Amino acid sequence: MLHDKRILLIVSGGIAVYKALDLVRRLRERGASVRAVMTPAAQRFVTPLAFGAITGNQVFIELFDRAAEHDVGHIRLLREADLVLVAPATADLMAKMVHGLADDLATATLLASKTPILIAPAMNSVMWANPATQRNVAQLRADGIAFIGPMSGEMAESGEAGVGRMAEPLDIAAAVQAHFETSPAPGVARPLAGRRVVVTSGPTHEPIDPVRYIANRSSGKQGHAIAAAAAAAGAEVVLVSGPVTVPDPAGVEVVHVETAREMQAAVDAALPADIAVLAAAVADWRAKGTAAQKIKKDGSGRPPMLEFAENPDILAGIGHRTKDRPALVVGFAAETADLLANAQAKLAHKGADWIVANDVSLPSTGEGIMGGNTNEIRLVFHDGVEEWPRLDKRQVAERLVARIAAYFEPEDE
Ligand SMILES: Cc1cc2nc3c(=O)[nH]c(=O)nc-3n(C[C@H](O)[C@H](O)[C@H](O)COP(=O)(O)O)c2cc1C
Repeated sequence: MLHDKRILLIVSGGIAVYKALDLVRRLRERGASVRAVMTPAAQRFVTPLAFGAITGNQVFIELFDRAAEHDVGHIRLLREADLVLVAPATADLMAKMVHGLADDLATATLLASKTPILIAPAMNSVMWANPATQRNVAQLRADGIAFIGPMSGEMAESGEAGVGRMAEPLDIAAAVQAHFETSPAPGVARPLAGRRVVVTSGPTHEPIDPVRYIANRSSGKQGHAIAAAAAAAGAEVVLVSGPVTVPDPAGVEVVHVETAREMQAAVDAALPADIAVLAAAVADWRAKGTAAQKIKKDGSGRPPMLEFAENPDILAGIGHRTKDRPALVVGFAAETADLLANAQAKLAHKGADWIVANDVSLPSTGEGIMGGNTNEIRLVFHDGVEEWPRLDKRQVAERLVARIAAYFEPEDE
């Protein structure tokens, strides 16, 4: 719930502005108060009147506003906010943020902000994929700005699809809530403060041809929850995520990848780190060579032969590093048989310090662990095993992070 939370919503000029009205409703029904700032372009899509009615507050649109600026109103807007949320965030607004431009109320407010910023980009997929936008996104992430989305799906332009759609209002509201849940009040212990953690999460997608890929049922819920819990414990977190639909956790640098090889490169780039938690379900194999065109039936009734190549083993790679090996390497073993024996073998062969083992056989009834909201794990060490009860994935993440924090605490304290 977002009781007593004050959100400053910055609305820039994309077609998704209409969805920002629903977002305001979602935030308010969770107890937040919302004030909106609109760029001139945003006002071309939806009028300030609509945002005024939905927020129940004055809408701010003018930097040089005599009435509001007698006490430097744009700074006051920030002091009176717990979170600045930019939704939708246009390619243009993100570019301006990167360069520190401040030529309207929205950009001046963002530049003056010491308040945490969460942004929900929304644009055509070609604009999103443009190297200029990607450079800007990387810079904003490096500047400590959190992202939610964009998602893949249909574009406003008829017949077009791809990555660029603004995250759904409910998912943005969930990310706002996660932001406050992972930002403890002053005085709350942050046992991983000063530690850098690399977490991997989700499946990998290994392309077969331009439209088909090899994947698995991993949802990213467990890995993302671990990244969020580590951030809440004060760590600097880099989350390397395969393709998932769960939102990016707030307060975490997220690197989105598709394939095992991209994931390995992103993990290597994130080092050095103190801790690596490799929760992603990385495909063991990829198709050997991706067909340039969609593979078609040839009418012979004979299916095409698919040849596989082995993917890099990211856990073994990091566990056996001689340079920049994290002090604690935690791997995951998703097994459908001989859980403990397989986990112990993985611990021995891959140079890991701990293995989080779980049985991912699909149950005949009830919820499966892969894709589900709960997890039942065994934490396997070189000298023993802990069996944990079935817990919510968030609880598993918090308990694992507490265990990691204890590992780094000096024994005499
Ligand atoms: C119909 C229409 C739809 C647009 N949709 C988007 C969009 O979804 N994302 C985006 O980044 N820009 C979009 N633009 C372009 C922006 O409106 C334009 O770059 C503008 O300068 C953004 O200003 P602002 O960032 O100050 O709000 C759209 C423009 C038009 C005319």
